[in-house]
Amino acid sequence: MTSPIASLRSSRAASASVGQYRPPEPCRYDFFQGQPDPGVYPVAELRAAFNAVFDDEGITACKYQGPGGRAEMAYGFTGLREEIARLLTARDANVPGSKALDASNIMVVNGSSHGLSLAVSGLIDPGDGVILEQASFGAVLGYLQQAGAEVRTVPMDRDGMDIDALVARLTELKAAGHRVKLVYTIATFQLPTGSVLSLERRQRLLALAREWDFMILEDNCYYAFHFDAPPPPTLLALDRAQADGGGRVLQSDSCSKTIAPGLRIGWMAGHPDALKALAAVRQDLGVSQITARALARYLVSGSYASNVERARLLLKQKRDAGVAALRKHCGQWVAFDTPPGGIYFWLEMSEAIDWPKVPAAAAAEGIALRAGELFSNDPRAERFVRLAWAHMSIKEIEEGIALFGKVLARCAKR
Ligand SMILES: Cc1ncc(COP(=O)(O)O)c(C=O)c1O
Repeated sequence: MTSPIASLRSSRAASASVGQYRPPEPCRYDFFQGQPDPGVYPVAELRAAFNAVFDDEGITACKYQGPGGRAEMAYGFTGLREEIARLLTARDANVPGSKALDASNIMVVNGSSHGLSLAVSGLIDPGDGVILEQASFGAVLGYLQQAGAEVRTVPMDRDGMDIDALVARLTELKAAGHRVKLVYTIATFQLPTGSVLSLERRQRLLALAREWDFMILEDNCYYAFHFDAPPPPTLLALDRAQADGGGRVLQSDSCSKTIAPGLRIGWMAGHPDALKALAAVRQDLGVSQITARALARYLVSGSYASNVERARLLLKQKRDAGVAALRKHCGQWVAFDTPPGGIYFWLEMSEAIDWPKVPAAAAAEGIALRAGELFSNDPRAERFVRLAWAHMSIKEIEEGIALFGKVLARCAKR
């Protein structure tokens, strides 16, 4: 029976697709959602940190804000902002000309998806141009659509977005009377392709941001997970090393992939003036003071770096096992690049496959996967599927991919 509420839904709610996804039941192999290996969640350390918050500052932590005042509702607990600034400063320390960040460069948000939506609403008016990679994070596509942005995409290769194509899009949008304000890029271990924007292209992108007067929104949530070579410096670090002191990059990040997604803590890093635009549109009364304080204690405790390293090494083993299984069981039906980092496989199905049938055929076998069109408005994305594997054991990855190979064989055109 249709609920009476259905007719009250806004057109946005009625057309949302990701929220409506239902995994197959039973779901034997859940390749749908990108999430870390639960085995590396630092449960004991987080418990100790939360207990210490209640022991030492229970009343304060239960308030909307601490002694940091109202700014803590818009920017988050000052102690956590300081810790995050320290982490990013240490990460970028070897970039020539890099400058230290402090709390004024950090806004704490409820997961990086929240920060990204704030960036869109703080910067974009209807009709403003935004350019992003051809396949990208579906939630951001949704935020941009809701904001009435004029969205254009650029193709990618293994070295990230094609910067000549970016210039062409900038030129086209300008000729059509749209001001381009934002380029959104998952520059490192791009979702969903795994590509890494090369250093040379990073430098060109930063130069274009100055020449064409736009902001770069750098989504950095997979940066820590490199399996082959460490990635180039972040766009934020390169920007801050520029002679003009930077200010062109807003970097979004979170602890969802490196600590635990259930914390729902992320951050935006950049120039205080850019953060001000986000603070101006922020209306959620802040992140949890309790969680922010516990997270700050966890970061101070010093186990963060070794936990991330442990997770990285584990993910590398899983990546290698998954790639071997894909070659063995699906090699005839899909083409893919071995991802040099991140937590996904992005598979292009061969012409020999009747690909619109694949998601349903996989679901019938209890395999949840994410269809390519959820990453792009380009109909050609239908030929792709994304597998998220970080949370699964090596055995599950191998078995799930073997079964997926059988599904593909069944979907082959006769
Ligand atoms: C590229 C990208 N950005 C942002 C997010 C949002 O993560 P969270 O809101 O948990 O920080 C995700 C989640 O998978 C993602 O893949």
